Amino acid sequence: MRIGWLKAGWLLAFALGMPTGTKAGAQKPMVAATPPMGWNSWNFFAGKVTDKDIRDTADLLVSTGMRDAGYVYVNIDDTWEGKRDAEGLIQSNEKFPDMKALSDYVHSKGLKLGIYSSPGPQTCARFEGSLGHEEQDAQTYADWGIDYLKYDLCSYGGVMRQQALDDAAAQNKLMREAYEKMHQAILKTGRPMVYSFCQYGDDSVWDWGPSVGANLWRTTGDISANFDRMSLIGRSQAGLAKFAGPGHWNDPDMLEVGNGKLTRDENTTHMTLWAMLAAPLIAGNNLTAMKPEIAAILMNKDVIAIDQDALGKQSDRVYAEGPVEIWAKPLTGGRKALAIFNFGETATEMRGIGLHLKEAGLTAQVSARDVWAGRDLGKIGDGWKTAVPRHGVVLLVVK
Ligand code: GAL
Repeated sequence: MRIGWLKAGWLLAFALGMPTGTKAGAQKPMVAATPPMGWNSWNFFAGKVTDKDIRDTADLLVSTGMRDAGYVYVNIDDTWEGKRDAEGLIQSNEKFPDMKALSDYVHSKGLKLGIYSSPGPQTCARFEGSLGHEEQDAQTYADWGIDYLKYDLCSYGGVMRQQALDDAAAQNKLMREAYEKMHQAILKTGRPMVYSFCQYGDDSVWDWGPSVGANLWRTTGDISANFDRMSLIGRSQAGLAKFAGPGHWNDPDMLEVGNGKLTRDENTTHMTLWAMLAAPLIAGNNLTAMKPEIAAILMNKDVIAIDQDALGKQSDRVYAEGPVEIWAKPLTGGRKALAIFNFGETATEMRGIGLHLKEAGLTAQVSARDVWAGRDLGKIGDGWKTAVPRHGVVLLVVK
């Protein structure tokens, strides 16, 4: 009888795709096996985000097709936090009257919910942080049904300076310990949560982040919705490819596609660069006013497939000549994505700039597909030339 129940439980777990626990964690699905995809409130709503914005966004992720394209996390960034009660439990503020009800709503749409805090006493927007309440907060998040935590250094930098003035190594140790503390607190809840570090890439976080639980770590300061900032961040990721892989990703910050005054070519470059970087694709635009042009960029299946490719390899720059750069990303099936960017101020006909297949690790001739044009190009070699618009890109998948 006992065996029967065990077997039934195992079969149910198997049918639901849950870990069966038969071999100490061996079957547990990896958290963030591919770069997380979703939406975050900060880039558009910033401190004004409310419960209604999150519900509207959840509805729109479904109705626009974004959820089915892979954007499943709905992440509430800073400014949801209220005060702590007498037991020290964190409360949400008046903008978020009932976090559990909101979480149930988001989950009922087939989506997941993310939240934000800081290891310091205060968040960057000066709301309540988790210092001294890590286990309580992780358990509260688990009780609410949270699936993703962005943990932002903010005021913990001040704590580090106070405790270890002028001692960079000691400050770094404090920072690692703070991130590890919340990592352990999350593990203790037993609820899988994507753990997202935000400490702006300090102290080569890519070197040590995974050892203290990071599924992703910001590699830079904040992005903003302008081409110079976005492209500076994207280009500065050269050399970081070796630190990324399934379960642990470099995060050049959330997408600004559809925000500010980015042109169509600039939005296309942004999306291409992030997909090439195997970056988390966390949209940050206002879905209640998303233009078809933006929806098409965010939901291009072939571009998303490059980002989400199961090999989990980030691209690197293989060639640069002035404002033109060629980046290559290994893909499954012996394929490669090649992105030819023009970060310059004028259109280029790529005069004299070949495809540099050798630098990309390819033979003389390759079969190529132009991804954004949705067109097969047949066999091409180094002599192939294309126009690349100002601030634009040509994205190829070759084999
Ligand atoms: C910044 C962070 C932003 C956003 C903001 C909220 O430190 O980089 O992405 O989370 O804090 O206050």
